[in-house]
Amino acid sequence: MSKSSPRYHITTFGCQMNKADSERMAGILEEMGFEWSEDPNQASVILYNTCTIRDNAEQKVYSYLGKQAKRKQVEPNLTLIVAGCVAQQEGEKLLRRVPELDLVMGPQHANQLKNLLEQVFEGNQVVATEAIQIVEDITKPRRESKVSAWVNVIYGCNERCTYCVVPNVRGVEQSRTPEAIRREIEQLAEQGYKEITLLGQNIDAYGRDLPGTTPTGRHLHTLTDLLYYIHDVPGIERIRFATSHPRYFTERLIRACQELPKVCEHFHIPFQSGDNEILKAMARGYTQQKYRQIIEKIREYMPDAAISADAIAGFPGETEAQFQNTLQLVADIGFDQVNTAAYSPRPGTPAALLANQVSEAEKSDRLQRLNHLVALVASQRRERYLGRIEEVLVEETNPKNTNQVMGRTRGNCLTFFDGDIESLKGKLVKVKIKETRAFSLTGVQLD
Ligand code: SAH
Ligand code: SF4
Ligand code: F3S
Repeated sequence: MSKSSPRYHITTFGCQMNKADSERMAGILEEMGFEWSEDPNQASVILYNTCTIRDNAEQKVYSYLGKQAKRKQVEPNLTLIVAGCVAQQEGEKLLRRVPELDLVMGPQHANQLKNLLEQVFEGNQVVATEAIQIVEDITKPRRESKVSAWVNVIYGCNERCTYCVVPNVRGVEQSRTPEAIRREIEQLAEQGYKEITLLGQNIDAYGRDLPGTTPTGRHLHTLTDLLYYIHDVPGIERIRFATSHPRYFTERLIRACQELPKVCEHFHIPFQSGDNEILKAMARGYTQQKYRQIIEKIREYMPDAAISADAIAGFPGETEAQFQNTLQLVADIGFDQVNTAAYSPRPGTPAALLANQVSEAEKSDRLQRLNHLVALVASQRRERYLGRIEEVLVEETNPKNTNQVMGRTRGNCLTFFDGDIESLKGKLVKVKIKETRAFSLTGVQLD
């Protein structure tokens, strides 16, 4: 490492989309000659890739930024960037709040970081938040993992769930072509990656903005077609995808998952609420009965498939009885994992304007009860693994016990076992499960 290379630091908040964007932006910075610095205080370019899905996510960035803005007053050459969803939501307003900022850039501009930074280095304060056609990126991302990689397949979201800020900040759906996606996966395989996760906010929408239909009027490019098109890339052992939307989930997709050996038996399908009135107020476009039918269908084809989801407690107007319907759904389905949150009113969303907001105390009480049930159900579900032999893809050392390595089962469950990372990283290992907990497993390596 040369002493004179300028350093950069990125802190990433939010979802897998942001993680994928950060990896591409890191790749661009390294092409520009910057070197990674874990410590932001050693870096001359600092980028915060932000999330605004809930108010507490948004507030985080302001406290991080405050410290670096102070530092800039004594180190004027420091470059401060806010990227991602808060940047898109706030735009110019961010400059008024934090005048030390050099660059505010929305998620659609991630691939444009080089051009934008060049304008900054010429002495401009830049805001890039206009809607654009996302360009294919030619830079190699600097990936966090060497085993498992994110692959964007569709950007944006055309749904209008009434609580959600994503369509405002991520723009309309833009699918990448199957050819561009396959090319990226082939390059990943050449670099030694073993697992890919196809990403989209509503991945079932993949392809509906691409030209072409079949003689029966179906879109030529669907997620199912994409899975068939990419699944034989040599070297890739596992394929995952997220996030699925119950409104568009098809039996054809379930069949493809069963048929294609590399596609893992794990489905992340948020239900948000178990109550039909609330689902309607959320504009989700399905009923709890429809959701149950999807899970039944999946289990018909793959009885052991892992099912995870997202749920919201305390949507405006939610009564105790309606909340009970959410608890009932969690208990009946038996989820492997549920990401939960108390409803948070977001700027520019219809639900934030509803008069019948649930009190903070009630929301946090419901969230606690929901979390309690989720953990209970998950630990019961996890017991089915006891004594079984599972295939684990080894990713890292267990940070809490360095004699152990950790990886995931096909069902996406974190699994620990004694072993040496040097020889096991990126390997598929047969592990006999000896101990189960709500959200992880411990076992011993066979052979
Ligand atoms: N595209 C995915 C989810 C994207 S956001 C989908 O359609 O399911 C991730 C999760 O954050 C959502 O599933 C939802 O459970 C939660 N979420 C979104 N907006 C929220 C809000 N205003 N308050 C609380 N939780 C929210
Ligand atoms: Fe938000 Fe709904 Fe789009 Fe998911 S599908 S990102 S919850 S608007
Ligand atoms: Fe957050 Fe933006 Fe993802 S708001 S959840 S980082 S799409």
